[in-house]
Amino acid sequence: MKLLVLNGPNINMLGIREPDIYGRETYAALLKRIEEHCAARGIDVECYQSNHEGDLVDKIQAAYGKCDGIVINPAAYTHTSVALLDAVKAVSIPTVEVHISDVDARDEFRRVSYIRAACVAMISGRGLQGYLDAIDLLAERFVK
Ligand code: DQA
Repeated sequence: MKLLVLNGPNINMLGIREPDIYGRETYAALLKRIEEHCAARGIDVECYQSNHEGDLVDKIQAAYGKCDGIVINPAAYTHTSVALLDAVKAVSIPTVEVHISDVDARDEFRRVSYIRAACVAMISGRGLQGYLDAIDLLAERFVK
């Protein structure tokens, strides 16, 4: 089973950006957690982060026929991007939307998610653990 874990803009700034909201663990620490979690379960994982919407679209398209599931934290593009929604729809790969913070308990505009309509589940407010929960959800329920 091969999974793609995608992160959008400013997730590379984890540990530096708004630590009261996103915690003090770095993006490198997140990658380590994901890689160890997947290795222990025999899951082949590729992680990718970009600050550019089109790069994320390209990565989703490239997953077609190659990946069995996608975990995505689109970050700010969650609330703006029809292109990411359409990309996930286009490839029809089971996708879980993840947010480190509880997006429904923050600003009004963070309650809107374009990509949600194409996702099999949404995990929000569980910190970095949310990525691991999303991986487990895909492995247990959505990937045959
Ligand atoms: C986020 C929430 C978004 O509203 C925000 O723009 C982010 C991170 C989260 O993980 O909690 O960059 O997706």
